[in-house]
Amino acid sequence: MRVLVIGSGAREHAIVRALAADPTVDAVLAAPGNPGIDLVAQCLPDCGPVTDPAAMSALAEQVGADLVVIGPEAPLVAGVADAIRARGIACFGPSAAAAQLEGSKAFAKEVMAAAGVPTAFAHICTTEDEIVSALDSTGAPYVVKDDGLAAGKGVVVTQDRDEALAHGLACLAKEDGRVVVEEFLDGPEISLFCLSDGTEVRALVPAQDFKRIGDNDTGPNTGGMGAYSPLPWAPDDLVEQVLDRIARPTVDEMRRRGTPFAGVLYVGLALTSRGLRVVEFNARFGDPETQVVLARLRTPLGQLLDAAANGRLAELPDLSWHDDAAVAVVLACEGYPQAPVTGAAIAGLEECGALDHVQVLHAGTRDTPEGVIASGGRVLSVVGTGPDLARARARAYAGVHSLHCEGAQFRGDIARAAEQGDIRIPLPIEPGPDGKVLA
Ligand code: AMP
Ligand code: GLY
Repeated sequence: MRVLVIGSGAREHAIVRALAADPTVDAVLAAPGNPGIDLVAQCLPDCGPVTDPAAMSALAEQVGADLVVIGPEAPLVAGVADAIRARGIACFGPSAAAAQLEGSKAFAKEVMAAAGVPTAFAHICTTEDEIVSALDSTGAPYVVKDDGLAAGKGVVVTQDRDEALAHGLACLAKEDGRVVVEEFLDGPEISLFCLSDGTEVRALVPAQDFKRIGDNDTGPNTGGMGAYSPLPWAPDDLVEQVLDRIARPTVDEMRRRGTPFAGVLYVGLALTSRGLRVVEFNARFGDPETQVVLARLRTPLGQLLDAAANGRLAELPDLSWHDDAAVAVVLACEGYPQAPVTGAAIAGLEECGALDHVQVLHAGTRDTPEGVIASGGRVLSVVGTGPDLARARARAYAGVHSLHCEGAQFRGDIARAAEQGDIRIPLPIEPGPDGKVLA
């Protein structure tokens, strides 16, 4: 099977690596790919814009792809999967209609309500007055979200009402701007990727992502600065609960609406004092969670994605996993996420890649005659694996420390709290003797 992967991040590098290791995959191509992907697959840097359905579907045909795997959200929302399937080529990734689960938070809330999926109570606002009254009604901490795609940066969580209102107004000022103001969810967050062929659902293993730029969850939100799996602190029945209460009802509801969801439903959820609550749906694999989840997957990825793309997920045996833990640390360029400074030279890539149980995955990098340079916000993901989180973490950080890139930033606390047993799910708030809930 010839597989074409669309995208150019570390997530796609991880996908390409896993596909290349599948004995049923004869060739992996990547559009456009990146210098790291180029070492394991054939990159097509002149592929044209990945959000252009006509260009991407023509490319898939031209390269003789048997399966296309779409990494990022923008091509999905633009209808690239529809155009590829229209040419009779199997595609892993939802249609534009189904990708609205990620493309519009208001749409996702509506589907969740119809499917009975637990999520934060939300107000959908289109005027300043509506935002003001929604903020009054939820109270602090305020959670204000841009309705549309914002690369993980459209959400403000703050105690400061002025900041919350300012963000809401900025989102409203965009064309067709809509704002979601919602209840604050306490408790740790996890990401669970649920693969679907439109009917059947298979979950991968849960991971935890670190969204803020700074240690101890400080500073602005980013695309994701690190991840780890497994989650030793999570309840044993977490995956079953998510499948039963969230993923299967959502997939059923999408099929009922005539827009079946085939691809990966990324369930971002919080384990709150009141139980599981969906924070967000995405219609694609998460970055950097994919880097750790695929490091643990034993089932050949090509066969899995091919089954999902062809409505044959029910025929697959149970997925198989390595016992090892995996930790990914993202190296971002200076100034990320507000004002990324690109162009710094990257040294130590070969040394890092040669370390045992360490993978160095490329994202924002570019080959130049002088060597590889940083060309984007998130530059590399360094993944360490080991028999437990402590060793996986030590290996990931040994990898990071073997690299040099002027001004680059990384978090020092990826997987630290989990390794130390410091993550707690908030206790349920029980009613007092008078039946009232005491905060
Ligand atoms: P989203 O784009 O919806 O995933 O939000 C980005 C991040 O903002 C999430 O990963 C959370 O850390 C935070 N966030 C979003 N919604 C809430 C909420 N209702 N309560 C608390 N934190 C939230
Ligand atoms: N890691 C968060 C995301 O992929 O959206």
